[in-house]
Amino acid sequence: MCGIAGYIGARNAIDVVYDQLKRLEYRGYDSAGIAYLDGGEIGIMKRAGKLTELGKLVGGRPDGVTMAIGHSRWATHGGPTDTNAHPHYDRFEQIAIIHNGIIENYLELKMDLARAGHEFRSETDTEVAAHVIGAEYAKGVSLEEAVRHGVRQLRGAYALVVMSKREPGKVVAVRNASPLVLGLGAGENMLASDIPALLPYTREIVVLEEDTIAIMTAETLRLTDGDGRELPVKVEHIDWDVAAAEKGGYEHFMRKEIHEQPQVMRQVLAGRIDEDFGIRLERMFSDFVWHEIDRVNIIACGTAYHAGLMGKHLFESALRLPTDCYYSSEFRYGDPVLSPRSLAIFISQSGETADSLAALRLCKEKRIRTLGIVNVVGSSIARECDRTLYTQAGPEISVASTKAYTAQVMTLTLLALYIAQVKEMPGVRVQAIAKEMQGLSERAKAVLELEPEIVKLAEQVRGAPLFFFMGRGADAYVALEGALKLKEIAYIPTVECPAGEMKHGPLALVHEGVMAVFGASESSVRDKIVSNMREIQARGGTVLAITTEDDGIVDRVANVTVKIPNGDFDYLDALLSIIPMQMLAYHVARLNGCEIDMPRNLAKSVTVE
Ligand code: M6R
Repeated sequence: MCGIAGYIGARNAIDVVYDQLKRLEYRGYDSAGIAYLDGGEIGIMKRAGKLTELGKLVGGRPDGVTMAIGHSRWATHGGPTDTNAHPHYDRFEQIAIIHNGIIENYLELKMDLARAGHEFRSETDTEVAAHVIGAEYAKGVSLEEAVRHGVRQLRGAYALVVMSKREPGKVVAVRNASPLVLGLGAGENMLASDIPALLPYTREIVVLEEDTIAIMTAETLRLTDGDGRELPVKVEHIDWDVAAAEKGGYEHFMRKEIHEQPQVMRQVLAGRIDEDFGIRLERMFSDFVWHEIDRVNIIACGTAYHAGLMGKHLFESALRLPTDCYYSSEFRYGDPVLSPRSLAIFISQSGETADSLAALRLCKEKRIRTLGIVNVVGSSIARECDRTLYTQAGPEISVASTKAYTAQVMTLTLLALYIAQVKEMPGVRVQAIAKEMQGLSERAKAVLELEPEIVKLAEQVRGAPLFFFMGRGADAYVALEGALKLKEIAYIPTVECPAGEMKHGPLALVHEGVMAVFGASESSVRDKIVSNMREIQARGGTVLAITTEDDGIVDRVANVTVKIPNGDFDYLDALLSIIPMQMLAYHVARLNGCEIDMPRNLAKSVTVE
């Protein structure tokens, strides 16, 4: 995710901000920049690539600068270039702005501003926000007022920091859904997107609350709400060490990323669902002729393949669109039959997986239409696909994929809804599903609150010699991903299969002490699932069922039941059930003393065959 830094005080502000950005490097980024006030003008230096590139410019910096803001960008709107890097000026270069998050309505705003004569240098949503706030500022109000009026026009998730040449020695920051922390020192104040950037300078921290505006000078900090009413400043003393702070206070990146999923669910949808719950992907697909596509092939590896299976399930059940899902390594050597009217979808977190990239190149040679569903902007798969839909999950650091999976399934769901909308398929309740997707983030938060229950469960089952993961329908696909999480980080052998397949072989492995995790969110097949559970129990196995709150069948049979809040669509309930499985894998691995973020033998990005 992008990083924010800022400093006002007696030290050299550019040096401090550069150092703060270095301390945010672990978050991942692809370009960086700093704005500073020098001789009454705002100077900006920015560069694509690693911080060392920016460092070359910092070397020739002016001395005696006491105020600067800095940003490390992880591209979402527009590729990782010098021009797209933050900070951005407004139209009149009166202000400079840095931004984390996504401005959902930036295109509408950009078109309005363009009609009023504004010209834009970058492809970013951030520059649009700069022009919106700059236009308010040009009316002669204070920077604080300009920010207040400007953000009323913005929709989306953002943390914004603004400085002005008319008001030296002051920065104004505002937060809506993207984190921002302020640090208080003696005669100096600072801010950042994450606590580690501030720890060498201060341990007195103010966490900016939602929809709060901060007005900061070297000596003062004021907080107001969106209407300008003063709010209390609550200072916390932080005594974490730097390593813990990088993980947001979590012991591991994996747990942090599991807990980021509600936020990621919002980010996936940002700018893609309109107020009437219509799907807004037309910019991506204006010349993509969905009526001509008669078959979809989804191609991916590992977790991304499991997300692809969810896509297959949805495309076939909702759209009646024939869909196959291939492992990339099999696809490239398997000589698949490819119809010229097919669409090949490549799913990848890193966008660099060697087998997926080779499979993509094969499709391109055969002139098959290609679509990427990719997390890392500007990665090889993203660049080489005809079209790419970014999953907008932010950098994933733990080798075990968690939030990327959720984002991939959500993105596939959006795509399916979009196709249904374009093809005007009355059988698909596009608006109802889109509305439910928007509420998923809150339900995911409720599922995360079950963690204490999962910890107790992990203590009971951590010694099991073998785990089964099963389900029916979408639950069967989620079970594959649940099993992968446990085996890759806790090194416990697993058997994963559709529950109906168990009797055809795997049941032979069940004996006293074996654990069976059932996904049971699919309401239409619960009685079948219950029979499968009894078959496990009859052979000495223990059953853990993940089901929905409205279920009164499964919990009468399972040894342990975890209940998640239900909605109207089993498919989305099934997606939510991955969260307890991720938490179970995490806590079993932790209790068993496993190396979680970098499991043995595995790499985050598999760039060799
Ligand atoms: O970067 P990709 O999504 O292409 O990576 C594919 C797999 O290597 C990856 O999903 C892997 O299975 C996960 N890290 C496992 O948690």
